[in-house]
Amino acid sequence: MSTQTSSSYSQFVADFKTDLKVTSPGRINLIGEHTDYNNGFVLPTAIDKHIVFQFQKNGTDICNVYSATFDKMLQFNINEVKQSDKEWENYILGVVNQIQLKGKIVGGFNCIIESYLPMGSGISSSAALECGLAYGLNEIFNLGLTKFDIVKIGQKAEHTFVGTQCGIMDQFASVMSEKGHVILLDCESIEHQLIPADFGDYQVLLLNTNVSHNLADSAYNTRVAECASVVKAIAVNYPEVTSLRQATTAMLEEVKAKVAAIAFQRAKYVLEENKRVEKAVAALKEGNLTVFGEFMYGSHNGLQNDYEVSCAELDFLVEFSKNYDQVLGARMMGGGFGGCTINLIHKDGVDDFVVDATKAYKEKFNIDLTSFTAVPSQGTATVNS
Ligand code: GLA
Repeated sequence: MSTQTSSSYSQFVADFKTDLKVTSPGRINLIGEHTDYNNGFVLPTAIDKHIVFQFQKNGTDICNVYSATFDKMLQFNINEVKQSDKEWENYILGVVNQIQLKGKIVGGFNCIIESYLPMGSGISSSAALECGLAYGLNEIFNLGLTKFDIVKIGQKAEHTFVGTQCGIMDQFASVMSEKGHVILLDCESIEHQLIPADFGDYQVLLLNTNVSHNLADSAYNTRVAECASVVKAIAVNYPEVTSLRQATTAMLEEVKAKVAAIAFQRAKYVLEENKRVEKAVAALKEGNLTVFGEFMYGSHNGLQNDYEVSCAELDFLVEFSKNYDQVLGARMMGGGFGGCTINLIHKDGVDDFVVDATKAYKEKFNIDLTSFTAVPSQGTATVNS
């Protein structure tokens, strides 16, 4: 594997003949955090911010993947795909590796990637990258992969080459979302329901803390392990229980003395969050956004105090939002330890709230807040020009 010199990139871009253009979106998650790898419920959707890919078959065994955003080139031989010591390269290599493990033949290709997704902000730029790449390779090499294959390839690339034991939510949302809808995904059966994102005069506003505490990756895998330890304890008496999804509060209480106190606390949160998702979805279907917003605050409370994946910056913004009647609900979103809060806010209140929150956040942390509204959008797709 080698990295070309910066001077050769402009020639690469100039010579590029695009066979296929693909966009792959980031995602939001309205509610249901850290439930996916526990086979629970989530409520994500793709948003109107993307990574854009251009693909070209090159008829050789060499793959050239250029990140225009970071001005970095990855070059590798398609017959020698192995893990890299550079994180971003592993998203690419991991996807190609997973496609090959399915017995599919990928030839040499060129690719240009431009990202319009802020990294580390909890809107899953990584799933967008994995799924956009898998989608594009599927198209140009006629691999016959289904949409769900692409979802699983992205997730497994993350488990193997990247090293995060993530759930399925991000890749599922990135690929399967439909414009104007949120997805209620049952991560046990993988059944999903598209629910109209009828927010009326309300909008989804993301406030980006612009912090990404480096605890994130290790803490994520620790949470996965803590939940698994509780499942293992419950399964001693209830062998049919293979995830926290099948566990009841009574089962959890039974093993309280047998598991670490912290693992018990994590599992309790997961059971509660699954119930919140179901109730929040009922409220959304009834058009009761006020109640929906209360569940968002409840979710944050659990993530902050029981699951402990929040941070001071996120907690500050969620607390701050409570001073504004026009905000119905707010919570941290994604893996945690930084990234964005998601706020459900009346459209007339957005400007004032953003100005005030930006000022207060700067005063408190001396960090510039960034904000953007997110519109429920279509998943990974070909761009027809
Ligand atoms: C990350 C993971 C997802 C999910 C969220 C937390 O985004 O990639 O699978 O677990 O964290 O809900």
